[in-house]
Amino acid sequence: MSQNSSEQRVALLTGAARGIGKGVAAQLIADGFAVVIGDVRGDAAEETAHEFVAAGARAVAAAVDVTDAAACTAGVQKALDVFGRLDVLVNSAGISAPKDTLELTPEEWRRMIDIQLNGAFFAAQAAGRAMVAQGRGGCIVQISSINAEAAFPRRAAYASAKAGVAMLVKTLAIEWATHNIRVNAVGPSHTETEMTRANIEKGNIDVAAIQRRIPLGRLATVQDVSNAVSFLVSNRAEYITGQSLYVDGGYLAYGYF
Ligand SMILES: NC(=O)c1ccc[n+]([C@@H]2O[C@H](COP(=O)([O-])OP(=O)(O)OC[C@H]3O[C@@H](n4cnc5c(N)ncnc54)[C@H](O)[C@@H]3O)[C@@H](O)[C@H]2O)c1
Repeated sequence: MSQNSSEQRVALLTGAARGIGKGVAAQLIADGFAVVIGDVRGDAAEETAHEFVAAGARAVAAAVDVTDAAACTAGVQKALDVFGRLDVLVNSAGISAPKDTLELTPEEWRRMIDIQLNGAFFAAQAAGRAMVAQGRGGCIVQISSINAEAAFPRRAAYASAKAGVAMLVKTLAIEWATHNIRVNAVGPSHTETEMTRANIEKGNIDVAAIQRRIPLGRLATVQDVSNAVSFLVSNRAEYITGQSLYVDGGYLAYGYF
């Protein structure tokens, strides 16, 4: 990486040891960023960061559990300590645990809300504080879901949390606009990741039915999602804030049979 380190933009990603977060990290590296690979699985985050470093990137790992506000602050601090600045947060931490609502325990409900909604807030707040203190703006992207808008059975907590993320994004966007911090969400439909593969194996997802339901006729790739994040954190999106951009092959638009 030939850029002067003080000019190179820096991104912190959560849930970035694998899946969408890892793919977005790879795209942001290609866009010229240094990255902090945050994940609750610290060892896996280290492995991913090493992979990127071996390929020539500036990358470090941070053990970040997004349900822990102090851990989010420590992840932000790692970006500041190692790279000297923070320009972008991408919060991609998440779990999927479909279950009949009548069977859902209070603990399962709370855990989903804790990771998907409380985590989105703690990560954004930690990044927002650092960006305000730096005084040169920034971008925050939450990885949301089409379930912020469309209900699936057996996803009561997940969908409620993602709908909350859409409103969180609007609120932070208007609150932090005077600091030139833009806050948006990218909401994928079913995306080819380990999370989706596990759901297919457990019988939670019928791929053929989904392909029939999606106008563009296929699942999303991690690259599809990464492209949207890359755009939103670029200057080409400098007038876009408070939005949820759905990367869904037309899923949400489709209202026919
Ligand atoms: N895969 C899909 O089809 C799909 C569709 C729509 C939205 N999403 C959303 O995209 C995001 C990423 O999903 P993915 O498919 O890449 O999943 P994934 O399971 O492949 O990766 C998720 C990563 O988040 C990490 N993680 C889990 N809990 C965490 C926590 N408390 N703190 C920090 N990291 C944590 C995991 O260790 C893992 O590395 C999630 O928010 C998910 O809800 C996924």
